[in-house]
Amino acid sequence: MKIAVIGTGYVGLVTGTCLAETGNEVICVDIDEAKVAKMQQGEVPIYEPHLDVLFERNIKANRLQFTTSLDEGLAHGNIIFLALPTPEDEDGSADLSYVLNVSQEIGKKIGSYKVIVDKSTVPVGTAEKVTAVIKENAKCDFDVVSNPEFLREGFAVDDFLKPERIIIGSSSDRATALMQKLYAPFVRSGNPVIVMDEKSAELTKYAANSFLATKITFMNEIANYCEKVGADVDKVRVGMGTDSRIGKRFLFPGIGYGGSCFPKDVKALQKAGKDQGYDFKILDSVITVNKKQKTIQIPKIVSHFNNNLIGKKIAIWGLAFKPETDDIREAPSIDVMNALLDKGVSLTVFDPEAMPNIEKQFGSKLTYATSMYHALEGADALIICTEWSIFRSPSFIKVKELLKEPVIFDGRNLYQLEEMETEGFTYISIGRKEIGQ
Ligand code: UDX
Repeated sequence: MKIAVIGTGYVGLVTGTCLAETGNEVICVDIDEAKVAKMQQGEVPIYEPHLDVLFERNIKANRLQFTTSLDEGLAHGNIIFLALPTPEDEDGSADLSYVLNVSQEIGKKIGSYKVIVDKSTVPVGTAEKVTAVIKENAKCDFDVVSNPEFLREGFAVDDFLKPERIIIGSSSDRATALMQKLYAPFVRSGNPVIVMDEKSAELTKYAANSFLATKITFMNEIANYCEKVGADVDKVRVGMGTDSRIGKRFLFPGIGYGGSCFPKDVKALQKAGKDQGYDFKILDSVITVNKKQKTIQIPKIVSHFNNNLIGKKIAIWGLAFKPETDDIREAPSIDVMNALLDKGVSLTVFDPEAMPNIEKQFGSKLTYATSMYHALEGADALIICTEWSIFRSPSFIKVKELLKEPVIFDGRNLYQLEEMETEGFTYISIGRKEIGQ
């Protein structure tokens, strides 16, 4: 099939590349000339496991091309994916200007039947708006379909190639049939393609992300309560998670959720509710609790150093909002670092992928270590903000040698309490007993 993908951000790039991988001819369109030039040379603009291999293979096979020309994309594709940004407006709602501006252009330019697919996370009613905007100028038939993505950063290629489900919001049989054909190679294992109306499809994405953010936040509150009563959240988590109605996943407590999706989507659903006169009280709480959770360890750090952090040197492991990405959007590490810098702490940081992005934001306010161990040299304590695999089993002998004092504040519960006790660390994690205090 012939596909155009408008917007080569995270979602557009993964969508375009993976659709090319199953034999479609894909043209990706972006207004950023420098980015398009780089992609034409085979350079992948984001870090995402496996994407580079697929990217190279499909460019070589001529199934994946890049252009700055919307005209070229529209002339080529029968199915046009909109993978445009929907940033958070000042009031928390999703800004649809990119989506609607491009839709207007599409209306003016298409000369034959096209299926326009909303891939961006968009509020309920967007398919209707996109349809109206295209209709103003269109001289031919077209259909608008809502097809939300559920890609996790770090697993996006896998999630696209083997999705648990595909959601298609469509009221046109012709468009639905085309979409089903396009996705057939990805659901051979029997996972469902679920067809519904456009509004329900749009809401499914917000409901899923808001539910997951709520699940994590609930567990974070249980963890905070565990600390008050001397229970162990890891045991509670396993106990709860074995109930299949609850499930084991997304129950890991920590210093809050971040990223480009959860924070934005929860706020957008909360705002959309308010606009319709519906008050999502549960989402108000999720937002408040998550904000607080990001710096939940700061009072513990302050009290460990007897209220005097001026001149202290602290190491941080993990800056990305989660492992396997260089993305630092809404990362808890940012709140942790800002709080500590305000208190006069000097910070030496390390992350396997996110250092350049953090350096762009923090510049000379931080010291950038060349390795995880280098970050520890002469530090008064270590804080863990992201659970990268390389932090999971360090040489504790080396850690103790390098730190001035063997003190770890672990925001992701990476280590066993017994081990920390045996190794002689002061170890303060989330929702579990403090060791060595
Ligand atoms: C998410 C959704 O999972 C995906 O379906 C959607 O389309 C985009 O948003 P992503 O933002 O890549 O994907 O990250 P995800 O792996 O879902 O984690 C989100 C945040 O929750 C991270 O900050 C992570 O650290 C946190 N988290 C996750 C927890 O704190 N505990 C958990 O148990 C799971």
